[in-house]
Amino acid sequence: MTETRYRIKNFPVPAALLTDTHGTDPEPLLESLRRHAPALIALAGDFVPGLKPRPDVRVEQSRNVTALLAGCAGLAPTFVSLGNHEAYLSREDLDTVRAAGVTLLENGYVARDIGGAQVVVGGLSSGYYTAYQRYGATERTVKSPDPDTGWLEGFAAQEGYHILLTHHPEYIRLVPPSVELALSGHAHGGQWRFYDLRTKAWRGVYAPDQGLFPKLTGGVVDGRQIISRGLGNTTHLPRIHNDTEIIYIESC
Ligand SMILES: [Fe+2]
Repeated sequence: MTETRYRIKNFPVPAALLTDTHGTDPEPLLESLRRHAPALIALAGDFVPGLKPRPDVRVEQSRNVTALLAGCAGLAPTFVSLGNHEAYLSREDLDTVRAAGVTLLENGYVARDIGGAQVVVGGLSSGYYTAYQRYGATERTVKSPDPDTGWLEGFAAQEGYHILLTHHPEYIRLVPPSVELALSGHAHGGQWRFYDLRTKAWRGVYAPDQGLFPKLTGGVVDGRQIISRGLGNTTHLPRIHNDTEIIYIESC
């Protein structure tokens, strides 16, 4: 696991970004968080274990998940949004997540004073979650369903620095321009990464919902989106040139 640091202009509080944990052993992550002591922790989706989203997976049955959530909540205010692997979670599952002490943002936002800074944190749920809750549609029946964006304008109009947890990086096209920073994952870095001599940058080979040679797989994009390569794996394929990462964000 790599500890990646990014500096973002006017970023208000030292923060950590974790995505795609997929039930991985929480202890190395918590050890890193204890050393860095961020003032805010963002878990931007796919904390549920398993190679595929499955309706029979319950949050309370995964000790790694509940230990990660409670461990983060014990260190700093922790905000959680829902990825595609959370598509089948029940109301009871969401209650279990909240009971760990984190703030669950299910297509909603909260405004908080953190270390003297007014921060508005939102969570844009995966369209797969929204589709399943509305229609019972699954990953197999609906391809890349749209997320619920009806609340984003109200979120963007709040006073403060806006941080939007959006598991899917491709949703950035739907984010109002006044949102200062979006935090994403989902692409797993594109699974295999290579250095593109044409663009002089590392890029991935494949990402779900983006396909082959995806644009949004890791790093800082246009100064307003950070994409994590994630912390767990959901395929038997090896990651090549693509270490897992925990991200720390500071102001510059
Ligand atoms: Fe995902």
